[in-house]
Amino acid sequence: MLIRIENIADYVGREVTLQGWVYARTGKGKLHFVQLRDGTGTVQCVAFQKEAPEAVFETARQLTQESAVAVTGTVRADERAPGVPGGYEVGVADIQLLQAVEEYPITPKEHGVEFLLDRRHLWIRSSRQWAILRVRATIMRAIRAWLHENGFVEISTPIITPAAAEGTSTLFEIDYFGQRAFLAQTGQLYNEANIAAFGKVYCFGPTFRAEKSKTRRHLTEFWMVEPEIAHCDLSQLLEIEEQFVSHIVQTCLRERAAELALLQRDLSHLENIAPPFARITYDEAIERLQALQAQCDDPEQKALLEIEWGSDFGAPHETALTEMFTGPVFVTHYPAAVKAFYMTLVEDRPEVCYSADLLAPEGYGEIIGGSERIHEHATLLERIRAHDLPRENYGWYLDLRKYGSVPHSGFGLGVERTVAWICGIEHIRETSPYPRMLNRSTP
Ligand code: 4AD
Ligand code: MG
Repeated sequence: MLIRIENIADYVGREVTLQGWVYARTGKGKLHFVQLRDGTGTVQCVAFQKEAPEAVFETARQLTQESAVAVTGTVRADERAPGVPGGYEVGVADIQLLQAVEEYPITPKEHGVEFLLDRRHLWIRSSRQWAILRVRATIMRAIRAWLHENGFVEISTPIITPAAAEGTSTLFEIDYFGQRAFLAQTGQLYNEANIAAFGKVYCFGPTFRAEKSKTRRHLTEFWMVEPEIAHCDLSQLLEIEEQFVSHIVQTCLRERAAELALLQRDLSHLENIAPPFARITYDEAIERLQALQAQCDDPEQKALLEIEWGSDFGAPHETALTEMFTGPVFVTHYPAAVKAFYMTLVEDRPEVCYSADLLAPEGYGEIIGGSERIHEHATLLERIRAHDLPRENYGWYLDLRKYGSVPHSGFGLGVERTVAWICGIEHIRETSPYPRMLNRSTP
């Protein structure tokens, strides 16, 4: 019977056929071990000279890495057997060689990351990359499931757009039949139109930012999910965010335990993720950081922690802040000057806005940015002018403030940063199947 490795536990004692690829082969003399992967998992297949027909044993002996095969044999439970799910092996009775591979370029030895990124189309087969991308797929599914369960309608927003939304310095400009257009930095402005038609909406897709510096948290193409809600203020927004994020984490713990184990993720950092998350204002964050900086003995760290009211946080600040709490932390009420033009200003203190970033623990930094949106026409127009944005590109967006405008809020969660946090991996490049960064747009 043809089965998938993920279901192998149901077939102990029975003869099965597995279609897969040779991940590794070891052994000598009378015994060969083939680690076979089929996309759903990995299992050890054992070819024993005494049991397998001579030709089959010879095929097993000669199998090379990444050769495509169909293996037939009997499933045995053996708790020492490696693999995912692990604990099972297959006693080989037959091997059909579908393609023999000569010299697969990625060998079990250590390769440099540029070498691997150049071969990303092959690297995704490696167990660690496989595990990360399986977790990513689960995160994307959990995102849609939670939003669906909670009454959000997915409305796609355009990639080719006429206007900047998240600052003009990271725009990718394209020539649209002789007119200037930009790749979307966000779908938010369209979400704000969509809420008047559907109430609670979200968009979910790739977004683009011409990030000109190399960091471990920035890609030039990344996926973002952006929910937007009519009649919602900042405190209601934060309640939605903490439930949403907790659901994503708990789904991964439940459904991707084997992958997280393969990644050697310390689950104690994830198991306690549940509402409510800590909340501090930007003012409070600055006070705490300045106090920490004043006490700091290490001159290098002291310099990194330097910060004045009004500046945006760098990675060292975000890390230091989250170390003061367990779990994710909301930082609210940022200075308006470091945030986007559409955020509502606080009435009696217009230098700050109704915004919130969610910082992930363990140094993973900002995973969500969100805010209340300006809903009065005159105020919005004034902010567009203050940001030196060309009014003619925002005509339709301003229009929304004329026809049934209501207070509303929304947020954007970056998928890759969320994957990096949940998987516990250092660099965001491994969280994207085909990462796009400064100096890399292939394969
Ligand atoms: O904070 P940002 O810029 O917010 C927005 O774009 C809003 N329009 C969202 C909204 O309110 N609808 O980006 C949101 C998130 C960040 O918190 C981060 O997780 C991710 O998107 N992000 C990036 N991820 C990878 N590479 C980059 N260059 C990113 N820039 C932002
Ligand atoms: Mg942000």
